[in-house]
Amino acid sequence: MARLRVGVLISGRGSNLQALIDAAAAPDYPAEIALVLSNRPEAAGLDRAARAGIPHQAIAHTSREAFAAAADAALRAAGIELIALAGYMRILAGGFVGAWRDRLVNIHPSLLPAFPGLHPQRQALAAGVRFSGCTVHFVRDAVDTGPIIAQAVVPVLAEDDETALSDRILAAEHRLYPLAVRLFAEGRLTISADRVMIAGAGAPGGTLFNPAAAAVGPLASRGG
Ligand code: GRF
Repeated sequence: MARLRVGVLISGRGSNLQALIDAAAAPDYPAEIALVLSNRPEAAGLDRAARAGIPHQAIAHTSREAFAAAADAALRAAGIELIALAGYMRILAGGFVGAWRDRLVNIHPSLLPAFPGLHPQRQALAAGVRFSGCTVHFVRDAVDTGPIIAQAVVPVLAEDDETALSDRILAAEHRLYPLAVRLFAEGRLTISADRVMIAGAGAPGGTLFNPAAAAVGPLASRGG
């Protein structure tokens, strides 16, 4: 079967891009990374694309509209069917988001709708939440909004600083993004009233406690 052609937009180091490249190296993965675009020519992610033999291009961000027009042309010329934003740090032009509606996804390092925008890990620490994580979602006009495809949860630990929490979330991102792209590529996602339905998806069981249930005693460990 033909593999879904994915275009990845980056601005920086590209570790999520790498996770997608690595996933797509498996012969049974239903998607391939067919084009990588960056708004910054010095983005380390472009080297990752080069190493993997993937066509890649830096497009100067002279204006939001000019970037959108050039990116759109490159993506269409490459026959891209899904765009994955992976650390793409600019706001996309509304026309671009509309043209690629439901074929444009993003990963964000928080459990949306909590902590959209910049520094979500710092926001999570400041809020004192006991869990955070990451979200893959379809992109809509407002930043970090849109139907949620998948989320992964990590605990926030007492000794965490922004780096430690970011690293823990990033490790989850590297597993979640390939999973979400796989679900899309397998045609298992449908959007209904701004919620994503997933055909044949299992859900995790159980309840997570932070602090751990054992530490807070019998009431919590009974689940009551
Ligand atoms: C990730 O945390 C991603 O969720 C956020 O920006 C970061 C990009 O990291 N949108 P990388 O470039 O994929 O390493």
